[in-house]
This record gives sequence, structure tokens and C-alpha cells, in this order.
Amino acid sequence: MSEIKQHPQWSSRFAFILAATGSAVGLGNIWKFPYITGENGGGAFVLVYLACIALIGLPVMIAEVMLGRRGRQNPMSSMQTLAQQEGRSSAWSLIGSVGIVTAFIILSFYSVIGGWALSYIVEGASSQFVNADTETVGNLFSNLLSSPLQLILWHSVFMLIVVSIVGKGIKSGMEKSINLLMPLLFILLLILVGYAWAQGEFSQGVSFLFAPDFSKLTTEGVLAAMGHAFFTLSIGMGVMMAYGSYLPDSVSIAKTAMTISILDTLVALLAGLAIFPLVFANGLEPSAGPGLIFQTLPLAFGQMSGGVLFATLFFALLSIAAITSGISVLEPVVELMEEKLSIQRQLGAWISGGLIWFLGLATVFSFNAWSSWYPLDFIPWFQEKTPFDIFDFLVTNLLMPLGGLAIVIFAGWKMNQAKLQQELELGTLWPAFYSGLRYITPVGILIVFIYNLL
Ligand code: PHE
Ligand code: NA
Repeated sequence: MSEIKQHPQWSSRFAFILAATGSAVGLGNIWKFPYITGENGGGAFVLVYLACIALIGLPVMIAEVMLGRRGRQNPMSSMQTLAQQEGRSSAWSLIGSVGIVTAFIILSFYSVIGGWALSYIVEGASSQFVNADTETVGNLFSNLLSSPLQLILWHSVFMLIVVSIVGKGIKSGMEKSINLLMPLLFILLLILVGYAWAQGEFSQGVSFLFAPDFSKLTTEGVLAAMGHAFFTLSIGMGVMMAYGSYLPDSVSIAKTAMTISILDTLVALLAGLAIFPLVFANGLEPSAGPGLIFQTLPLAFGQMSGGVLFATLFFALLSIAAITSGISVLEPVVELMEEKLSIQRQLGAWISGGLIWFLGLATVFSFNAWSSWYPLDFIPWFQEKTPFDIFDFLVTNLLMPLGGLAIVIFAGWKMNQAKLQQELELGTLWPAFYSGLRYITPVGILIVFIYNLL
């Protein structure tokens, strides 16, 4: 019991919003959202994605933070305690343990991509983008990808930063850095959107993003849209539960979750608005894949005045946004090692970080030596997928939505309703929220899964 009392808390609602926004806003918004939108044909995909954020993502986030705050421990122990309180099977703690596996896989590839962003700080600062054309920018990117050594170097730098911050304890420094840097990232995105508006094919970009053409949407695209709602909000694997475990009791979870979801969505849409007008103006393919932002934004920086400064700043802020997300992925792992295995935070961070670094090598090689190695080609879902693609698909489209499903079922069906109602303090919105949580959200997730199985 004493362990529960000692569990630290955020200093305020604002501190939690900052940390949770720091977790949510990251590569998912700026790197991933544009390229998967491009791969899935634009508008219709975006519409489904937005619907998934509102009808699935938001309720899952509310439920997950709530479970974390009631449990006040690492996700696995929290679920164990809560299941016990409600007289349910201890199998519910699987939400936490599967989440740990998910965390390992996510951070392994996230760190490699975070490394790309880090390396682009240097490229930007050394004027590599100045007056560069599509070919130069394309070569710059493929040179990076074709060098395992460089990728490993930057992946290592990224992991080192994440591990040393998590090792020290997330509260020190995190609140301050997010407080200052998030608004700055936002402003830079606005500048880029302004550039895209002035110099790019803005209206074509806007209609690509927002005019839905449902003939371009596949069932796989719908699954990807739902999966991305989980990925981008950092939900369904215990991160928000771990952060919720530090949340003071007085804070309104629903309002907070709403704020985080809106901020996250805004950043993603701004990134899309900055990138697609440039894609069309430069004759690039929206479906170019994971390199999309690295092949478009440098063109803009290369043309605009002050471009060297802006490029450096942008990739630095992107890296920081990625680091704050990376920190949040490692946090529940270390929290678990501390509370369950009594491994000191510092040591736990280094051990898990080392393992994750090693797993990351599979992603590094997916972009060069293993780029046409499809290890699970015999499984329909994993056909023509490199190890990186497999990791990404597995966590984003399967494990996180399954985790989210379990979370809403526990909150909506297995928990005492009065307790839940009291915890969430939704007032007149309660009945609508509660039936949404019990029916719309889980059924929505199941429908997307079932369609993809057929
Ligand atoms: N939400 C983060 C992003 O959009 C990624 C992330 C996923 C972070 C899962 C934590 C957990 O970049
Ligand atoms: Na995000």
C-alpha cells in the first residue's frame, strides 16, 4: 500500500496536459500522418481518420487516463488492482503487459525515424537545402537511408537522449521544455503553411486533404486510419495510463483528453497543409512513402529567405517532439521495472533502452540491406512488408486497437458505473458518453477489424 501513496503526481492539470501533449505530438503527426494520407488517397482517408479520433480515440483516451489515475501504478499493476477491486479476472493486466511489448516495438522504429530528424538538423544547418532541386533533395535522403552506419549513429543518439531523460525521472525538465517548444513548433508549421500557400499548389493540396473520394479508400486504408488514431494519440498501450497514474484527483479527465486530441489533430492537419501543396508544386508523388516530408520540406526551406535558420529550427523542434514522445513510450516500461522488479529507474532505463536499441537495427536494415526482405510474406496481412513495415503494422493496426478495445470494455462493461461516473464528472454529458463508450467505440473497432479479416 505504501508504494501507492508514494507514487508521485504532476504538479497541475497543465503539467499533465503538457506531458501528454508531448507524448501525442510527434513523428506521428508530422512524418507519418502526411505519408499515410498520401498512400491512402487523401480526403476520404482523412475523414475516416477524423471520425476515428472523435468516436474511438477520444473515448479510449478518457478511459485509459481514468484507469491509470484509479490504479496509480504502472499499467500492468494498475489493471491488476482494478480488476481485483471490481472482482474481475486478473487477465485484465494483459493490457499492461502487452503494452510493454508494444512499447518496445514502437520505440525501436520510432527512434530510427527520430534519428532521421536529428540528422536533418545537421543537413539544414550546413546549408544542404539551399536552392536544392527535387533531385538533390531526393539524393540527400536516399544517401542517408543507404548508409546503415549513419542510421545507426543517429538512432543511437536518439536512444541515448531518451534513456538519459527517462533515467533521471520524467518530471525534471520535461514540463518546461514542452511548455516552450511546442508553441514554437506550432509557429514554424504555420510559417510552412504560409509558404505552401504562397508558393505551392495550395488549392490542390487542400482538396487532396479534404475533398473525400471514397473510391480511393480501401478496407486496409480504413484500418490504417483507425490504427493511426491510436498511434497519434499514444493510446491503447499504457502510455496514457502511465501518465494518468501521476494525475491529481481534482483534474477533469474529459476536458484534458479533449484538449490533447484537438492539439494533436491540429498539428497533423497543419503538417498536411504544409506538405501537399509542395508535393504537387514539385511534381512529387503523394504516395512516396516514409520519405515524404524529408523530400518536400527541404525544398521549401531551400527557397525561402532565412531558410537555413528555419530548416535547422524545424528539424530541431521535430526531433524534440519525437524525443518527448519517445520518453513517454519508455516511461511505462521503466515504471514497471521499478515497481514490479525493484530495478532502479536509471538502471531500468538503460537495460530496456539497450534492448530497444538492438531491436531498432531491424528497422535500420529495412531501409537498405533488408529493403526487399519480406520475412512474413506467407501471412496475407504482412505481404510485401519489410521488418519495419511489419513492426509498424503489428503495433499500430493490431496491438494498439486491441488494447484500446480491452480498455473501453473494461471501463464500460466491467467497472462499477457509479464509480466511473463519479471519476469522470461529465454532468449532463454522462449518458451520451457512457453509451458511446459501451457501444459505439468497441463496435467501431470491431467492425474495422472484421472487415479486414474478410
Ligand atoms: N503519439 C506519438 C506520435 O504521434 C507516437 C507514440 C505512440 C507515442 C505510442 C507514445 C505511444 O508521434
Ligand atoms: Na500524434
